[in-house]
Amino acid sequence: MKNILITGGSGFIGSHVVRLFVTKYPNYNIINLDKLTYAGNPENLSDIENHSNYTFVKGDINDAAFVFDLFKKYSFEAVIHLAAESHVDRSISNPNEFIMTNIVGTLNLLNATKHTWGENVKDKVFYHISTDEVYGSLGKTGFFHETTAYDPRSPYSASKASSDHIVRAYFHTFNVPVKISNCSNNYGSHQFPEKLLPLMINNIKNNQPLPVYGEGINVRDWLWVVDHARAIDVIFHQGKIGETYNIGGHNEWKNIDIVHLLCDTMDEKLGREKGTSRKLITFVKDRAGHDMRYAIDATKIKQELGWEPSVTFEQGMNITIDWYMANQQWMDNITSGDYQNYYKEQYGNK
Ligand code: NAD
Ligand code: DAU
Repeated sequence: MKNILITGGSGFIGSHVVRLFVTKYPNYNIINLDKLTYAGNPENLSDIENHSNYTFVKGDINDAAFVFDLFKKYSFEAVIHLAAESHVDRSISNPNEFIMTNIVGTLNLLNATKHTWGENVKDKVFYHISTDEVYGSLGKTGFFHETTAYDPRSPYSASKASSDHIVRAYFHTFNVPVKISNCSNNYGSHQFPEKLLPLMINNIKNNQPLPVYGEGINVRDWLWVVDHARAIDVIFHQGKIGETYNIGGHNEWKNIDIVHLLCDTMDEKLGREKGTSRKLITFVKDRAGHDMRYAIDATKIKQELGWEPSVTFEQGMNITIDWYMANQQWMDNITSGDYQNYYKEQYGNK
């Protein structure tokens, strides 16, 4: 049995990656290290938590001594690093936590990896999961390529860019066998409702205002989270050491168009008259430093590793909306308590 560390496995994308690896690879021992911040939710993995090849460890990647001890205990053969503070708006109101977890936390994992593996790095991999936001903001045309110069513009993207640089530095300087992927916006089940899609779905369902930032003309490139997990699987097993892979769906949408799509689809599913939910749309103060457009060129992963999305956007969205409608208890559990305070602070004065 290979011991594989997945960090941030109780979050949105991490839970999909853990589920895929635990069920697809019974010969891997998957150890999920997660601090269970507001974004980490054990319920995200309730369907696989009793599998014999799955272990949950509650802990903080910012605690270097704890991380070293964990590496000593499990002698990991591989690391897939997803743990992070991930929400841009929170990085604007409180940047410090992003610097700690995304930069120092990543450094702690790299140090423990380097110390544990030493020169014995054959068949080992430290796989760092990153974002397309490190490349900055595009104009109306063009795409992010693996070679695009970094130009992060929010505290979140700056912290992720910094972690990418440190990961590459450990490859070049210390021979730590690394891989990096930079993915576009994910959508799917189990996403915390601070992010655009689950927030809108929840508000439409509850007849609450739909807060669209600015004029709603910013563009994002949306990918189904299960396809991101599939890409991570492919890169983990077939990607080359030292390489970077961009992951995206070639699926660009203006925010306002995606909110319209959600409104119309949910009106139909909820048996509401067409146009009912669009009336909930409220244009609010724009996000500070709001990146205009992200779009990924995913040619490299397609040509070199044969990966491409498995579903159309329409299929993925239908599965996603149906999941949120069928899992109201999941949503209720995380939107009570602290979420209400966050929501008031984030949207109260807009
Ligand atoms: P998320 O916020 O849903 O989950 C993050 C997880 O990390 C949570 O379970 C949280 O408890 C855990 N965590 C946070 N701080 C920790 C710490 N100090 N120690 C241990 N665990 C900690 O995030 P997500 O959307 O699933 O993103 C996962 C990764 O993918 C991040 O690195 C993010 O930058 C990257 N990414 C996200 C997207 C997206 O669209 N969501 C796209 C591209 C890349
Ligand atoms: O591109 C990958 C990134 O995608 C990831 O690295 C981040 O972790 C992830 O959070 C996401 O970042 P975004 O800032 O693009 O996602 P978010 O869902 O916060 O916002 C999507 C767009 O919708 C963005 O242009 C802001 C806008 N928006 C968002 C919220 C929450 C609104 O108009 N209203 C809202 O209430």
